[in-house]
Amino acid sequence: METNSQTEVGQKQKGNGSGEPLIRLEALTKVFYTEEVETHALSGVHLDIRKGEYLSISGPSGCGKSTLLSIIGLLDSPTGGKYWLGGTPVENLNLSDRSRIRNREVGFIFQSFNLIGDLTVYENVELPLTYRGMPSAERKKRVMDSLERVGMAHRVRHYPSQLSGGQQQRVAVARALAGSPAILLADEPTGNLDSKNGEAVMDLLKELHKEGATICMVTHDPRYARNADRTVHLFDGRIVDEQDHRAHVEEEEPPAN
Ligand SMILES: Nc1ncnc2c1ncn2[C@@H]1O[C@H](COP(=O)(O)OP(=O)(O)O)[C@@H](O)[C@H]1O
Ligand SMILES: [Mg+2]
Repeated sequence: METNSQTEVGQKQKGNGSGEPLIRLEALTKVFYTEEVETHALSGVHLDIRKGEYLSISGPSGCGKSTLLSIIGLLDSPTGGKYWLGGTPVENLNLSDRSRIRNREVGFIFQSFNLIGDLTVYENVELPLTYRGMPSAERKKRVMDSLERVGMAHRVRHYPSQLSGGQQQRVAVARALAGSPAILLADEPTGNLDSKNGEAVMDLLKELHKEGATICMVTHDPRYARNADRTVHLFDGRIVDEQDHRAHVEEEEPPAN
């Protein structure tokens, strides 16, 4: 892996180390209404995510994990409760604020990679930067820096179908990183990968976190969840348990005698 000093995500984190959480959710609810059926996907979620924190979310299928991530990433809106992002109540944002923040402050990594099939690796990573109207020289630098960061700079002209799943996910990580987001959201990023490629993507997230990135990751795998500082367990749309992994590091050491 390239040791490309600091990511810009990391640099961004350094400057604003106030005590206020980056993300604060209070009594957050989400109800989906479909053909006379109400689905209570989230039923009162309280959660703070600090700048520079690596949080993992686990829980059974259908418990609301993806819904929670979509709301945090401003892809969806809550039905009730409060969400503050960087101290700003999200409900006060208009549509253009929301899309600007989504484009600039949030990096998404999905289980199914979500690369665009008829764009090259380079163009996939560049696209969100183009949407912001960034000049081409700066785009090029950012695209190449982030592809180097994930070890994929030698594949710029390839198309997603010409890459393995692990390589596609690394490109997706580069796309998420290129815009220097305040937070990286990953929804089961290893779900479609074999264990070797899964571990490579997890190692990458671990490195990014060490450099200061704020990460919120959904995973089913307890081995990967332990990479995070903290795991919250979601069940039926509520946080029912929380583990602080940093507090348990010493307990996991073998006994001295
Ligand atoms: N767009 C939607 N319309 C209706 N119901 C939805 C929608 N998205 C999710 N749900 C429902 O909300 C619940 C939570 O879904 P989801 O957040 O995807 O769970 P998870 O990611 O934990 O598997 C499920 O019952 C799901 O069927
Ligand atoms: Mg899901």
